[in-house]
Amino acid sequence: MGGSRGRRRPLEPRLLALLLIAAGTAGTQPQPASGVRGRSVLLSPALPNGSSVKTVEWYFRAGAGKKIQVAEFGPEGFRRPDPRDRFKQRLEMPNATALRIGGLEPGDSGVYEVQIKYDSTTEVDDPSFNLSVYEPVPPPLIQHQLHSRGAQGCNVTLRCSLPPGSPAWATLQLGDASGTPWGQRVDGQTLQLAIPASALNATYTCVARSPAEEQSCSVDVKALCEHEAGRQRWYICLGVLAAVVGPLAVLLCLRRRRRRRRKAAEGAALSVAEEPQYAQVLR
Ligand SMILES: *[C@@H]1O[C@H](CO)[C@@H](O)[C@H](O)[C@H]1NC(C)=O
Ligand SMILES: *[C@@H]1O[C@H](CO)[C@@H](O)[C@H](O)[C@H]1NC(C)=O
Ligand SMILES: *[C@@H]1O[C@H](CO)[C@@H](O)[C@H](O)[C@H]1NC(C)=O
Ligand SMILES: *[C@@H]1O[C@H](CO)[C@@H](O)[C@H](O)[C@H]1NC(C)=O
Ligand SMILES: *[C@@H]1O[C@H](CO)[C@@H](O)[C@H](O)[C@H]1NC(C)=O
Repeated sequence: MGGSRGRRRPLEPRLLALLLIAAGTAGTQPQPASGVRGRSVLLSPALPNGSSVKTVEWYFRAGAGKKIQVAEFGPEGFRRPDPRDRFKQRLEMPNATALRIGGLEPGDSGVYEVQIKYDSTTEVDDPSFNLSVYEPVPPPLIQHQLHSRGAQGCNVTLRCSLPPGSPAWATLQLGDASGTPWGQRVDGQTLQLAIPASALNATYTCVARSPAEEQSCSVDVKALCEHEAGRQRWYICLGVLAAVVGPLAVLLCLRRRRRRRRKAAEGAALSVAEEPQYAQVLR
């Protein structure tokens, strides 16, 4: 890639290139980077202090595929050598060195190599990044089953899960910030808790994690236990209401029926007038 090699004899550049590749693979490992499908990632190489950059070229290689140049920052600013490559409009360079890839796709996983040329020296830096694009992690769900609740506390089972169809590699972790002494771990996602009333205001959090991101969901045990208790109280309230309203309703019904009977007697003449029609229909 350097101009100096072009001046050598025809066979040598290839040999040198092979040596350089060998040295490259044996030398610095690409820096791991991760992104989430659909989001963006910023690859930003560290620069030596006070260095003034002349040109920066970004290359991409997926697996054993061919290395392609995808972006360049030179005296004219940002340039895309081939705007119809897989990245289309998704690349930008916020400054001379950093590369931002938007709308990440699984196929963007691979090695991104930068070639940085400086104003002051003829040295070339070529740091690289190994980008892995992961599926988004959905927020986990905490389900609970209340076994008992009383003056002695709350006996509840918490279970953390991911919505169906979630990527299987996400790891789940359920716990309390203070490291609960009230719990018994059934498995990685299930806790059987018997919490004394004095320690009810604890928060249990489930974290779903991928190498690229994490999502969490929390439950407040106190609210959970009191909500359930509240619901039971609500049922009791309904029962009391039924006990009071029921007899009242029966009384009202009886009164209304008595009034209707009186009206029916008054309208008897009218009914008689309509009778023949009714008889016809029956026949
Ligand atoms: C680079 O600059 C930072 C602060 O700007 C300083 O802490 C660090 O020591 C410098 N490194 C070198 C190699 O000069
Ligand atoms: C380039 O921009 C990125 C993101 O804004 C920043 O992290 C990085 O330090 C910048 N690099 C330089 C050399 O200014
Ligand atoms: C890049 O990262 C992936 C997954 O972490 C790994 O399998 C692969 O070997 C890495 N590639 C290179 C060139 O380091
Ligand atoms: C909590 O409830 C479970 C299931 O009903 C029961 O097996 C367990 O003994 C209870 N624990 C306490 C401390 O009440
Ligand atoms: C529990 O409640 C007390 C006050 O009622 C409060 O000071 C404390 O921070 C709470 N603990 C948690 C874990 O929320």
